[in-house]
Amino acid sequence: MELDFLGDLRRTHTCGALRSSEEGARVVLMGWVNRRRDLGNLIFIDLRDRTGVVQAVFNRELSAALHDKAAALRSEFVVVISGTVKKREPATTNPNLPTGEIEIIAQDLRLLNESKNPPFLPGESGESTEALANEELRLKYRYIDLRRPAKQANIELRHKVALAIRNFLSGLGFLEIETPFMTRSTPEGARDYLVPSRVYPGAFYALPQSPQLFKQILMISGFDKYFQIVRCFRDEDLRADRQPEFTQIDLEMTFPQQETIFDVTEGFLTAAFAAAGVSLAVPFQRMTYDQAIRQYGSDKPDLRLPPMADVRQVFTQENLDALTLTGLLPVVAIVIPKVGELSRRERDDTQLKAQRLLVSNIKVITDWKRLEKSFPSAAAQIRELVCAAPEDLVVLVGADSAPDTSPKSQTAVYTEAGGLRWMLSRTFADRHGLLRSGNFQMVWVTDFPMFEFDEKESRWNAAHHPFTSPHDGDMEKLGEGSDLGAVRALAYDVVLNGTELGSGSIRIHRQDVQRKIFAAMGISNEDAQSRFGFFLDALEYGTPPHGGIALGLDRIVMILAGAQSLREVIPFPKTARAVDLMVDAPTPVSDAQLRELGIQVKK
Ligand code: AMO
Repeated sequence: MELDFLGDLRRTHTCGALRSSEEGARVVLMGWVNRRRDLGNLIFIDLRDRTGVVQAVFNRELSAALHDKAAALRSEFVVVISGTVKKREPATTNPNLPTGEIEIIAQDLRLLNESKNPPFLPGESGESTEALANEELRLKYRYIDLRRPAKQANIELRHKVALAIRNFLSGLGFLEIETPFMTRSTPEGARDYLVPSRVYPGAFYALPQSPQLFKQILMISGFDKYFQIVRCFRDEDLRADRQPEFTQIDLEMTFPQQETIFDVTEGFLTAAFAAAGVSLAVPFQRMTYDQAIRQYGSDKPDLRLPPMADVRQVFTQENLDALTLTGLLPVVAIVIPKVGELSRRERDDTQLKAQRLLVSNIKVITDWKRLEKSFPSAAAQIRELVCAAPEDLVVLVGADSAPDTSPKSQTAVYTEAGGLRWMLSRTFADRHGLLRSGNFQMVWVTDFPMFEFDEKESRWNAAHHPFTSPHDGDMEKLGEGSDLGAVRALAYDVVLNGTELGSGSIRIHRQDVQRKIFAAMGISNEDAQSRFGFFLDALEYGTPPHGGIALGLDRIVMILAGAQSLREVIPFPKTARAVDLMVDAPTPVSDAQLRELGIQVKK
């Protein structure tokens, strides 16, 4: 078909804008052909742009030439339709469409561009489950997938959330300051993406896993309040809530208390959620790491369901023997509200899944009726302890043998129970309705352990990062021979419905403390100097107390959009195998490029 020029035509309205109050107006609309319906003398074109869809009518009796031109239109052709707004007859209004009370009587049509037959249709009618299921196809043709109204709504939501956060932080006096993408490794624990240097063959820049050290240096430089909505890069195993490049809302302040960071974060999260029409209650709940582990079996507690409890004390030693549970470790009761008794089959399924999920010495008791029959008094006490209503499901988790009674073994029982609680809540989620969207339970988890023991390497690592400050009260535990596992950090996470949204800490601002931390982790002065020498040097020039946090923007938008994967809210995401199917990256590069970089690839 012959294409027309746009000429000097200007768009008067967007496709979603027109209402019956505009009856009689002469309008010029531009967009994509969403759908064409041919009823002989009448052709209906649904015209789509980002704002919505509007119906235009081409009547053969008004103009045969125009009607013929409209008959040749196909899905995704780009057109200009000029015409007059007309109120539809009551019988033909479309209540599902905001513009459904009107239509455009077309008087002119310009074809600006054709489209190949798309592999799937992006309009509402194209949201067939088949097209949606084939995510690879949608990722390859991302430009078409991004035309889907649902996708456009997600990207618009992302914009609104980011803007609300920017405005909020700027209003508090935070400055948005850029930090480099081509830098050297920051200690966040994942692998780095490396960028080879042409000028210095064999030397590499690293893409930042986060701007951690730069933001701390900005505090040393006196910027007082920094933030950045910033891309970070991590080469790690991907999951639905992890992408190799993702966006953080990153901030840092001088002279803060932990509570100061909480206030600021609660403020910008409230603004962000308000931008999506959700009102959050502040202050958020707070709980220590220990409490989170004991009550929720996880440092990412999902508060939509009731806490777990150790109910060992209700059993006599005889009871425990009969149940083949050791009395040395906790016996944890999990409550899933409103689920009721499990059927025989559900019990068997749950047992099977639990066995696969749990480590070998952990035992699950799902047959409540039997427990009640054998130990009526204990069963009654348990239901009272965990405040279980008659229609609530109660499951017990314990250990049938115990290597020791150390805090680590105790934690293991709680975390196994936490894993099972998660599995049960997801399996029976539909029934109890507690996990429905719109229930946003935020919580601060505080007092994380400073160190984690790495069994493989047989050494202590920083649980957050090595620049996190220990609790003032735990400084004396940093000496030789003391239990590093008991040192608490001034580190905190903000968690929403079992997902970690962000984490941060008060940092070390003193050289002597920093040296103690490196020593505790067995990092020698030389090693520390070679890895973060520039930063340790900076610490020596009047570093103020400072602290901050970073939150995952993608995760926040994903939750607000009710999406199941970050890919739904990132315009151009990677697959779970870290591939961009649209541009086809990563790809090999030419021998000439490799030679220039002094790189040889081993096959
Ligand atoms: P952390 O490593 O915990 O902290 O990251 C902060 C938040 O960033 C998000 N996030 C991710 N989102 C998507 N894909 C990923 N691969 C990914 N990795 C992390 C999460 C997480 O909570 N520098 C510290 C912060 C600080 O101490 O100020 C840091 O980066 O939502």
